[in-house]
Amino acid sequence: MSVLTIKNCLDPVLRKKCDLIQDINENLVTLSEDMIETMYAATGVGLAANQVGIASRLIVVDLGFKEEKHEPLIIVNPVITASEEEQIGQEGCLSIPEVYADVKRFQQVEVKGVDLNGKDVRLEAEGFMARAFQHEMDHLEGKLFWDMLGKVKRDMLKRKFKKILKEMQE
Ligand code: NI
Repeated sequence: MSVLTIKNCLDPVLRKKCDLIQDINENLVTLSEDMIETMYAATGVGLAANQVGIASRLIVVDLGFKEEKHEPLIIVNPVITASEEEQIGQEGCLSIPEVYADVKRFQQVEVKGVDLNGKDVRLEAEGFMARAFQHEMDHLEGKLFWDMLGKVKRDMLKRKFKKILKEMQE
């Protein structure tokens, strides 16, 4: 397994609508393992394939990281099939380091997709887990969390991100 480079939000791959995965092969298994490794290395709770430069519909999520229980979920071609109620909570993104904002999301979602064995998966998530799924699945549509906000707030966060990026490069 290897740690991959996470693309930041200025990379056009983060704006791509990702392709459906037709074939679950060895490359996809390796990519999934590397994405999990990358997510852990960055202490994130989720990662979408386009964040590591691959515009395919694959996400990994693991909220157990902070309790040192690793329970990674890998979902190929995920879709939200039902959603209920709303929540507002803080969100960040590994492609937008050190920038956080309150984002409105569904409180409960049902997610369907396929696992690495090609088997159908269906799961229900609520609260922060539901938030993580919605955030990662937005990536597959080329969307970033600040797209959910108003323009004034978004522009403010973009300026903050550019400042942080500049500091990181110095
Ligand atoms: Ni993100």
